[in-house]
Amino acid sequence: MTPEQKDIVRETWEQVGTIAETAASLFYDRLFEVDPTIRPLFASADMAAQGEKLMTMIGVAVANLDQLETLLPAVEALGRRHVAYGVADSHYDAVGSALLWTLEQGLGDVWSEEAADAWETAYGILSGVMRSAAAAEQVAA
Ligand code: HEM
Repeated sequence: MTPEQKDIVRETWEQVGTIAETAASLFYDRLFEVDPTIRPLFASADMAAQGEKLMTMIGVAVANLDQLETLLPAVEALGRRHVAYGVADSHYDAVGSALLWTLEQGLGDVWSEEAADAWETAYGILSGVMRSAAAAEQVAA
C-alpha cells in the first residue's frame, strides 16, 4: 500500500468508528443479501457481539498498517479458525464487496475512487493472509 492509501484508510476508518454499530449491522445485512448461503454460518452467533469483533479486528489492522507483519501470526490463526466456522474461499469476495459497500454508505461524500482502491488493497492483504492460511490448513487436514 502507498503511504497515501494508508492515510485514506486510517482517516476513513476513524470516521466509520463514530457509527461502528450501525456500520456493522449494515454490513451483515448487505453480506447476507450479496451471498445468502453465508447466513446459515452465523446461525448460532450473537450478531451484535460478532459485529463488534469484526470491527475491532479491522481496527487493529488499520492501526497497524505500518507493521502488518507483526499481525501475521494472529491473522493466519484467524484464517485457520474460519475454516472451522465453515467459511469457504469464495466467501471472502462477498465479505470484501459488502465491506466496501458499507464504507461507501457510511462515508457518503467522503467516499471516493481513491478510498475504494485503498480499501480494496487493504482488505486484499488481510483476506489474502487469511485465505492462504486456510488453504494450507485444508491441505494439511
Ligand atoms: C478480513 C476478513 C475477516 C475478518 C477480519 C474476520 C473477523 C472475525 C472475527 C474477529 C471473528 C471472531 C471469532 C474469532 O476471532 O475467531 C470472526 C468469526 C466469524 N467469521 Fe469472520 N472475519 C473475516 C472474514 C470472514 C468471512 C469471509 C466469513 C464468511 C462468510 C466470515 C464468517 C465468520 C463466522 C461464521 C464466524 C463465527 C461466528 C460465530 O458463530 O460466533 N468471516 N470473524
